[in-house]
Amino acid sequence: MKRKELLYTGKAKSVYATDDPQRLVLHFRNDTSAFDGLKKEALDRKGAVNNQFNAFIMTKLAEAGVPNHFESLIGEDESLVKRLTMFPVECVVRNIAAGGICKRLGVTEGIDLNPPTFEFFLKNDQLHDPMINEYHIRSFGWAQDSDVETMKSLTFRVNDVLKKLFSDAGLLLVDYKLEFGRFDNQILLGDEFTPDGCRLWDAETRKKLDKDRFRQGLGGVIEAYEEVARRLGVPLKFNA
Ligand code: C5P
Repeated sequence: MKRKELLYTGKAKSVYATDDPQRLVLHFRNDTSAFDGLKKEALDRKGAVNNQFNAFIMTKLAEAGVPNHFESLIGEDESLVKRLTMFPVECVVRNIAAGGICKRLGVTEGIDLNPPTFEFFLKNDQLHDPMINEYHIRSFGWAQDSDVETMKSLTFRVNDVLKKLFSDAGLLLVDYKLEFGRFDNQILLGDEFTPDGCRLWDAETRKKLDKDRFRQGLGGVIEAYEEVARRLGVPLKFNA
């Protein structure tokens, strides 16, 4: 299916309409941003790596019973997806303390969180995606209680599936962020699952292999993403 007009330009992806009102094209760009867009750079191959990485993970998740919007790869950096009505919230699960939770609660990076912790954030760049709770979601009508329960249980189901997938590849799934939307009467996982939206560490050395390499200026960002893809067996293809 060919892409038509541009509907939305995000920080790393552009969203296009198609001939089918129920389908969209996601274009994964090379643009990389952090700190609410304050730090920006285009990184060679990133769009293609993330698109194909996301396709691999979404396919694994669908096979494991996590319904999601991914339909097919249509190019090295483009995928066809179902058009969802997104909830304006982000769901984060953390298995190991890193990033925001260390800053907020003054805990040491690297401690195990047992059981894993769950957090909701409001999707709002101007407000820097503040942390919210289920009462805020209810009071402001951002989602129904049953949707909240579905998002939480699917987010933890993703943890079961991906912790094992990454662990078999010698990687620790530290934390990740998911976004959900409605398609007909079903709640589906939307957006993306790539090293831009999760933390992955080498299980032995705890070397960071995710977007923290960009945030912290560690270098070798795409090389790390490609290393993760190689270990998982993601078949990366690039146009000449
Ligand atoms: O920054 P923080 O530690 O709260 O992020 C938790 C996880 O969610 C990290 O894997 C981060 O990459 C991801 N995240 C994201 N988009 C955001 C906020 C966090 O992908 N807007």
